[in-house]
Amino acid sequence: MTEVFRTLGIESSCDDTCIAVVENGTTVLSSVVSSQIPVHSEYGGVVPELASREHVKNIRTVYRETMKTASVGLSDIDLIGVTVGPGLLGSLLVGLSFAKALSFSSGIPLIPLNHIESHIQSAFIEFGSAIHFPAAAFVASGGHTHLFRIDESRNLILLARTRDDAVGEAFDKLSKMMGLGYPGGPVIDKLAETGDENRYSLPRPRMSDRSLDMSFSGIKTAMFRLIREEGDALDKSGLAASFQKTVADILIDRIKRFGKEAPFESVILAGGVSANSYLRERFRTAFGEHAFIPSMKYATDNGAMVASLAWMKRKEEPAPLHQEAFSTWILPS
Ligand code: KG4
Ligand code: ZN
Repeated sequence: MTEVFRTLGIESSCDDTCIAVVENGTTVLSSVVSSQIPVHSEYGGVVPELASREHVKNIRTVYRETMKTASVGLSDIDLIGVTVGPGLLGSLLVGLSFAKALSFSSGIPLIPLNHIESHIQSAFIEFGSAIHFPAAAFVASGGHTHLFRIDESRNLILLARTRDDAVGEAFDKLSKMMGLGYPGGPVIDKLAETGDENRYSLPRPRMSDRSLDMSFSGIKTAMFRLIREEGDALDKSGLAASFQKTVADILIDRIKRFGKEAPFESVILAGGVSANSYLRERFRTAFGEHAFIPSMKYATDNGAMVASLAWMKRKEEPAPLHQEAFSTWILPS
């Protein structure tokens, strides 16, 4: 009989309180996500102080529900993984404090984890050994836009990143500028379904130092101007579709250019923006069977990717009692 190693994953880096129990890194027994969208939507974006308070309010309930669904108790858990950065400091501290309390009261070791690396791990929950190396991993979320090369030993090499706004942030801003609410990603995704992707031409910024880093603030400013100039004549679905096309072109272009220098065997798209239906389609068209995109439940923030990464790092040094949280933490470190 194969031995079962159960990990508990705790994620609270932004506005979702997420806890999951995973066996041997890939069998998800339960994954509970408590969303705070109704709390933040009236402000048009995440309000950090409110996010921390909601985590405090929800985390015990999410924990109990997770354990009940998985039909396990704390004594059945071998290792706890918790996100310690990057993210909103107050939010991270709620998850970290909860994880520390569980760990130090039970003696179960605690592994501190990076949120971006957890997003990449989400692809390994479902696709595991089908992913071959070297792989490209694009993490596009509300706070991050990073392209990595992953080698055989699972080391991450940062190839390119945004120099300003994250892709998800640009989705959220576009929706806000058109008065369509928060979070913008799903709204723009739906709106774009009926739009012409060639309706508007948006800039594709290039770095003056010839680096392949990305920038999304210029695109945001161009869309702001367009919305102001067009007024009632604005073709909202056309703008949503044109924006998505621009994003897909930029992301795919970066992977292809780096792939030309040293080819990738697999291409992973992860992070909240990977839930975008148009982007998923474009990646599948561009990379075919080499494209690995987590299913929707693992695309946006979740505890399963954290629990799975904890399993992968089970031989690493556990966190000390004074483990800190970090608002910024750029990989590799
Ligand atoms: O990974 P995530 O859940 O949280 C962070 O780590 O930031 O990503 C949230 C981001 C938000 O900006 C949200 O608008 C975006 O992911 N998002 C999407 C879609 N669903 C969520 N962006 C584009 N299309 C979607 N369908
Ligand atoms: Zn995330």
